[in-house]
Parts: sequence; C-alpha cells; structure tokens
Amino acid sequence: MPIPANTPKLKLLAIAGSPRRGGNTDSLLNEAVAAAAVKGASVKQIILSDLDIAPCRHCDGCIQTGGICVIDDDMQWIHQDLREYDRFIFAAPVFFMGVPAQAKAMIDRCQALWVIKYLLKQPVAANGSAERRGCFISVSGGSHKNVFEGSLATLKSWYLSLDINYTGALLLPGMDAYQSVARHPTALKDAYSLGQNIVIS
Ligand SMILES: Cc1cc2nc3c(=O)[nH]c(=O)nc-3n(C[C@H](O)[C@H](O)[C@H](O)COP(=O)(O)O)c2cc1C
Repeated sequence: MPIPANTPKLKLLAIAGSPRRGGNTDSLLNEAVAAAAVKGASVKQIILSDLDIAPCRHCDGCIQTGGICVIDDDMQWIHQDLREYDRFIFAAPVFFMGVPAQAKAMIDRCQALWVIKYLLKQPVAANGSAERRGCFISVSGGSHKNVFEGSLATLKSWYLSLDINYTGALLLPGMDAYQSVARHPTALKDAYSLGQNIVIS
C-alpha cells in the first residue's frame, strides 16, 4: 500500500559497533538499512570506530548537570540522536562474550540518559508517547551455547534505559572469517527482513 505524502518518515538510527570495517556485522547492517530505506524510513548510519567516544569516567557529572554528560566529544550529538530517533538497529560482533570496546564505551556513556530516566524520572524519548523500537545484529566466531548471552544482556539493559522496546535479534554463530556472512545461505536475506520489519508500524 502506498504511504500517504503527509506521513512523517520514521527515523531509523543504525549503529555499526565493529572496528572491522566491511566485516560481517557491517554487511548485515547495510542490508537492514537498505531494506528500511526502501520501506520509506529516513536512515542515519553511524560508525562508532570512526568517532571520538571516551569511556565513562563515573564522575557523576551527569547527575550534577541533570542528565548532560560533561565529556565533550561525539557522544553529545549521539545522545540527542538516541533521544530523537524512532527505530534503532545496533550491530556488533561478540568480543570476549560481550560487545567491542567501541560499542561498550558508547553504551556506558548513556549513563547520562539513565540519570534522566531513573533519577530525574523524565522521559528519555523526545518523540512523546510514540513507541520506540530497536533490534540487534550480532555474529560470533565460535558456536558454543550462550555465546550471545553477554551481549544480549548488555543490549537489552541499554535499550530499557533509553525507553526503546527490544523487538528481536539476528544472531549468527560460527562467522569468524572476514565476510563469512556472504557465504551463509540466508544471512543477508535475514538481515534485509530485519530491516523491513523494524520500520513496519
Ligand atoms: C578481540 C576479539 C574478541 C573476540 N571474542 C570472541 C568471543 O568471545 N567469542 C566468539 O565466538 N568470537 C569472538 N571473536 C570473533 C568475532 O566475533 C568474529 O570474528 C566476528 O566475525 C567479527 O565480526 P565483524 O566482522 O563484524 O567485525 C572475537 C574477535 C576479536 C577480534
């Protein structure tokens, strides 16, 4: 069905959390982003390894300022995006049973938004009462049971703090080599479907 011309576009923030450019999670994220754009979403993609994001210092500056981080780097505008967007796809491989350092630094810096939600009891989302949704893309080199558990726990607690409803994940074990996903029978198609589904209202 065609989308009416006056319908505001859903804004999708796609976050690439791997330091290996053009690798497995990058490729999957690109598919998902392409699908969301075809469905009419307005997409912004950010690549964490290209950005200046210091780790959280636990200085409690964000408590003193009422939810504004005192470190002046790229997290200042990422915080705004995380408050303003409607849909989120976060892509990150498993590194030592968690997410890579670049991704964890970004997540930890969201302590400033945690302060807004849990201490100030204010909404994190800038879009009023409209539901915000997010999903997860991950790959791992190994195939052992529970390989995604650490990352999933981190991702879910991060989304909860940001008032984002977690809608599901595409998790692909046994994908160690560069571009393994290109040789997988369904990975890229599954990523495309994930991108379509996240922007269906
Ligand atoms: C520092 C580092 C730690 C890793 N830790 C794990 C791990 O704990 N478990 C696992 O199954 N794979 C692990 N891997 C393998 C990656 O998850 C795998 O190579 C993946 O394909 C990388 O995804 P990318 O191409 O999107 O960067 C690790 C890789 C690196 C470089």
